[in-house]
Amino acid sequence: MQQPGPHTGEAPKISFAGVNKSYGTQGSRGGSTLALADFDLHIAPQEIVSIVGPTGCGKSTALNVLAGFEQPSAGVVTVDGLPVAGPGPNRGVVFQQPSLFPWLDVLDNVVLGVKCRGVAADDYMPRAMRLLEEVGLKGFERHYPYQLSGGMQQRVQIARALISQPDILLMDEPFGALDYQTRLLMQKLLLRLWERFRPTILFITHDVGEAIFISDRVIAMTRRPGRVKREVRVHAPKPRDYEFLASSEFTSLEHELVLAVQSEVEGPEAERAERAERPQAAA
Ligand SMILES: Nc1ncnc2c1ncn2[C@@H]1O[C@H](COP(=O)(O)OP(=O)(O)O)[C@@H](O)[C@H]1O
Ligand SMILES: [Mg+2]
Repeated sequence: MQQPGPHTGEAPKISFAGVNKSYGTQGSRGGSTLALADFDLHIAPQEIVSIVGPTGCGKSTALNVLAGFEQPSAGVVTVDGLPVAGPGPNRGVVFQQPSLFPWLDVLDNVVLGVKCRGVAADDYMPRAMRLLEEVGLKGFERHYPYQLSGGMQQRVQIARALISQPDILLMDEPFGALDYQTRLLMQKLLLRLWERFRPTILFITHDVGEAIFISDRVIAMTRRPGRVKREVRVHAPKPRDYEFLASSEFTSLEHELVLAVQSEVEGPEAERAERAERPQAAA
């Protein structure tokens, strides 16, 4: 089922192998919730992979296990072949809700993590200034979060995630709270930053179009317990522009993925309709 990565033969950067994750303990009040079951996903170095799927199917759980915020109940998640033991500076994380400190200005928010880790200011300061320029916030270094729009706050979060020079960027619906136009801008910004730093990116979104626009590969998950249901490769070369949104590749992938996700949301009847509509080659 798994298609080979873009650099076939190369060891994966990230691997989920037979990952199960349940919350709570069997027999405890309320019982346990199995969020992921036999979740397998291998991501090549510098690949951009998006995950789409119904609410509650385990997308954030997968990301949190990879980030080291949660432990798998079974199976293993590896980065560069080593099991993830906890959070680390090689994995930058961006969430939907900006988690900026309101009493710190933009620059201090960006550098807080590296400063706390004892990195020398001579090292991180020039990098922070360059990053803020690259995310379009030059001149806003001394602004406070309340003075920024939602899109600008997400730019700060991205700069903060990149300041440790991570080779992996984990993004959980980072543009989900933004308006459509801002989202498009942020998607292009992300592709520009990828050109510049070439991180491996795992991106979670509700928005199938967003997933296709930014990704090399899009994974659709089943409803909970989540596993990989479908994966499609996006062949359009990067960087991509808005013309790509009108291409036949984009629209046919969008149709296929919307059906794959919607059938999980709606249940077996929609599933049958989706199977009937699915192009044979993609089955
Ligand atoms: N910390 C937690 N404790 C208990 N249940 C959780 C926890 N986090 C997530 N869940 C449950 O696990 C399932 C998957 O959640 P999540 O990974 O957040 O889904 P998604 O991101 O796809 O919406 C949901 O049923 C959710 O309620
Ligand atoms: Mg989520």
